[in-house]
Amino acid sequence: MMKKHDFILAVLLGGAVLLGGGTASAQALSVPDTLSNYILTPKAPETPRINGAKVFGVRPGSLFLYTIPATGHRPMSFSAENLPKGLKLDKQTGRITGRVKKVGEYRVQLVAVNELGTARRELRIRVGEHIALTPPMGWNSWNCWGNAVSQEKVLSSAKAMVEKGLINHGWQYINIDDGWQGLRGGKHQGIMTNSKFPDMKGLADEVHGMGLKIGIYSGPWVGTYAGHVGAYCDNPDGTYDWVEKYANEYYRFVDPEKKVKHGVNYHHGKYSFVKNDVQQWVDWGMDYLKYDWNPNDVYHVKEMQEALRSHDRDIVYSLSNSAPWGDAAQWEKMANCWRTTGDIKDTWESMSKLGFNQTKWAPFVGPGHWIDPDMLVVGMVGWGPKLHYTRLTADEQYTHISLWSLLSSPMLIGCDMAQLDDFTLSLLTNDEVIEVNQDPLGKQGMVVAQEGDVVVYAKPLEDGSMAVGLFNRGLSSAEGTVTWKNLGLRGMQKVRDLWRQQDVADSAESFTTAIAPHGVRLIKVYPGNSRLQAVSGR
Ligand code: GLA
Repeated sequence: MMKKHDFILAVLLGGAVLLGGGTASAQALSVPDTLSNYILTPKAPETPRINGAKVFGVRPGSLFLYTIPATGHRPMSFSAENLPKGLKLDKQTGRITGRVKKVGEYRVQLVAVNELGTARRELRIRVGEHIALTPPMGWNSWNCWGNAVSQEKVLSSAKAMVEKGLINHGWQYINIDDGWQGLRGGKHQGIMTNSKFPDMKGLADEVHGMGLKIGIYSGPWVGTYAGHVGAYCDNPDGTYDWVEKYANEYYRFVDPEKKVKHGVNYHHGKYSFVKNDVQQWVDWGMDYLKYDWNPNDVYHVKEMQEALRSHDRDIVYSLSNSAPWGDAAQWEKMANCWRTTGDIKDTWESMSKLGFNQTKWAPFVGPGHWIDPDMLVVGMVGWGPKLHYTRLTADEQYTHISLWSLLSSPMLIGCDMAQLDDFTLSLLTNDEVIEVNQDPLGKQGMVVAQEGDVVVYAKPLEDGSMAVGLFNRGLSSAEGTVTWKNLGLRGMQKVRDLWRQQDVADSAESFTTAIAPHGVRLIKVYPGNSRLQAVSGR
């Protein structure tokens, strides 16, 4: 807990604080009920509100699938003005599907209506070369289920994404990580599933039927990290000498009973089955690929990129892991996102080390190409089969989500969504925070000031305003200041607390706040510089 004198200091400083920091190193292995005290996100109104990205990229002729994310009382009906030729909208579900042939930017007016009102918002549909124009938002199975992932578990997280309303805030992808693979076979001699995934096509259809998208995992070694078959082979016919078959048909080379060590599958074999695998994924209806090995190299990255591009399905291409910085200009060109780090754990040491060391990547980040400091460690995680509640304190979790938003990083929820508690849900459904992550300008937030344990990140937004995170990396409460000079802003600016969704100050100079240990104050400084301001001298 924050010490009493720290709290008084915070109040005297005039900044709102995150009430109660929690002990920075506290272990919380079951859902702590005290977390409900830390919920800052206001409930979404019952009137309709359209959320999520303001821009959406699709390649000409590719299958289009977009669900209008809208909060508010149901039933709700949807319409759209100026939809480009080739697209149609389902009025009940708000799903837009079809194919657009003509390259261009289409400014579409989305409309959502319920018994309490009407909301309108512009969506820019960009038909061209680039996809993932804002960082992908979704779920990935690894941080919760690890190798114990199954079709049933994936489906239950997909259902929760809809039932708990995350889909209404722009959450979209349901990504299966390592652990789905069986042996090669089928029509394309692609990797088939193991017995935990009895019907991958059925799963993909079901996920699409909910208005979501689905992703898959592989790598260009003969095997993957978890010991399943990869996109390359030592044998020309696609058989693997090192694979053992378990009683449950769960194919891996590592036999946990015999405790055989990993290693034999960590090499690039002679025979590539990349095209075969991609064809299989396209047949199943995959929308996202995490391609994982180390070190990432241009040859294998390009080979997969070309295979993906040879189909009329837009598949987000995400590289993993610890991509070498020396080739950043190549990742920028060829991939939609790339892991810049090793694996995250649910500790402050891990999350803060990964999150606060991304600055050198900023020149390579922009719409369609994002850095990925790994998936979120909130809620019930555990790398399977047993889960525990994240060991991050409430303030550390605010830091985690705020920092990933400022960095324009993919937001991939790492917990079992079927067990989402109210606190975690509140962290993931704050539309003003999500808007920082999804801002169409696509800049990576940078350090603009630093003093002691306090570090200030700023991210310029499309509307000329600035998202600012004042982080306290220390173990005791601290005071943080950002000046308009730090931000290159002039004149009167308003300060909005994004977690609380409230305007909290006006100033012509700066903003000062108390910050809880390992915590953050995430604000927006607006409206930014303007001509009006310049001519009026304000
Ligand atoms: C690597 C990746 C993780 C996960 C596992 C799967 O460790 O970095 O994110 O995909 O492999 O085995």
